[in-house]
Amino acid sequence: MDINSITVAAYIVASLLFILSLAGLSKHESAKNGLTYGMVGMAIALVATVAATIDVSEYVDHRALVITLMLAAIAIGAVIGLWRARIVEMTGMPELIALLHSFVGLAAVLIGWNGHIGGAHLSEGDSVALGDIKALINIHEAEVAIGIFIGAVTFTGSIVANLKLSARMKSAPLMLPGKNYINVGSLVLFAILTAIYVSMDTHHFISGDTSTGATVLLGAITVLALALGWHLVASIGGGDMPVVVSMLNSYSGWAAAASGFLLGNDLLIVTGALVGSSGAYLSYIMCKAMNRSFISVIAGGFGIEAPAGDDKDYGEHREIHADAAAELLAGASSVVITPGYGMAVAQAQYPVADLTAKLRAKGVDVRFGIHPVAGRLPGHMNVLLAEAKLPYDIVLEMDEINDDFPEVDVVLVIGANDTVNPAASEDPTSPIAGMPVLEVWNARDVIVFKRSMAAGYAGVQNPLFFRDNSQMLFGDAKDKVEEIVHHLS
Ligand code: TAP
Repeated sequence: MDINSITVAAYIVASLLFILSLAGLSKHESAKNGLTYGMVGMAIALVATVAATIDVSEYVDHRALVITLMLAAIAIGAVIGLWRARIVEMTGMPELIALLHSFVGLAAVLIGWNGHIGGAHLSEGDSVALGDIKALINIHEAEVAIGIFIGAVTFTGSIVANLKLSARMKSAPLMLPGKNYINVGSLVLFAILTAIYVSMDTHHFISGDTSTGATVLLGAITVLALALGWHLVASIGGGDMPVVVSMLNSYSGWAAAASGFLLGNDLLIVTGALVGSSGAYLSYIMCKAMNRSFISVIAGGFGIEAPAGDDKDYGEHREIHADAAAELLAGASSVVITPGYGMAVAQAQYPVADLTAKLRAKGVDVRFGIHPVAGRLPGHMNVLLAEAKLPYDIVLEMDEINDDFPEVDVVLVIGANDTVNPAASEDPTSPIAGMPVLEVWNARDVIVFKRSMAAGYAGVQNPLFFRDNSQMLFGDAKDKVEEIVHHLS
């Protein structure tokens, strides 16, 4: 068997493993197996690609140098990847994922430019009539322009998402005047520039030299796409970032698929399409959970109005201390805990598990209410609570618990903010208006654990803190829960 056939077989096996991986990741119990399938598939794909590249490199000059550079790049990438994966905190995962998407985008741009400089090639064994050659060259040129466009949008969009998620850029949406016209205008301009690029002679027919005009045009397409990617994601507010990350995941898949067409690599096409479609579907599910329009979010916050300045007087908030909170809990018969990002920051899940065990031992009914976008990544709270070995059957989804709050004595809001903000359902001008939230304010008493009166991720003030039945318990969530446990003992 020649190396070509082995590569094709390896690519088929890798594609199947990627499909099994996605299927495994769709369920909690099979997620670990799903990851293993994905890792094995990727290892097979990598080895097959390296072997095939070494095989064809016999036709290039400086073969040893080319192979050494490729292996060095793989080694450097592997070292950086292993190092980052080992040190990343769970709370830093979304921004790391956004950064990784930007690499896929950048790779697609570089592959596109390589396709432009190298021109179209016929593969060995292709028998094409002379008249069809022009058509094939046009297809190649369209692939170059589209690949660069999707890649560049993904590249800058992912960088903005990374900056917003890591709080190095303001999470509020950028509101340029006529922003929707900017987005639509950019798409129209891209279509026109691509049509011109495809119809012109990008290479000299005899010498094969690249035309300067075509290079300038492709440069303009690249700059346009870089600016559009930046603008699309900058226009989306912090509260919608979870959807943006999965949308960029989808874009990175399409960028990889576009590169697959350019390189004639079937595995890249299949994998890109899998990532592209699963990312799009996840974005759709998240939009439904957050009551957001899918089209509005992928079109860079299309139709979202600038939030009105928040100079409202919400009144005074009340404070409570750990001893009084412990007393309130000891006298309750039903308690619901709604955790959020602050529980992850404080790593308060272990004392929360102790508190739960203590209260249950006293006969108090304790349940958890989990918002679909609490924390910073899908399933974030569930993972933390599972880590602390809390029983699954008392951990409920938002829809399962929302109607029960009027019968609940005490709600402990532990480091959650946006996900329990009544403005989402009561103030149509709020940037998070329409997002379903945990209706904790319907309970008899609410205790909010946080360190200050600062806003949550979406940068929106929370009227819950000023309600008559709410009290603030200031300090690090872990310390405060431990203090309560101590008082209960
Ligand atoms: P957030 O609205 O982010 O609020 C978290 C609160 O935790 C903050 O107000 C902060 O207040 C408090 N906090 C931080 N560290 C703390 C500590 N050590 N001890 C006690 N409190 C602490 O949380 P949420 O309700 O979970 O909402 C999640 C937000 O993130 C939503 O807007 C969502 O759209 C967005 N988002 C979600 C995801 C996914 S997929 N889950 C991904 C990206 C973004 P202080 O600073 O005053 O302590």
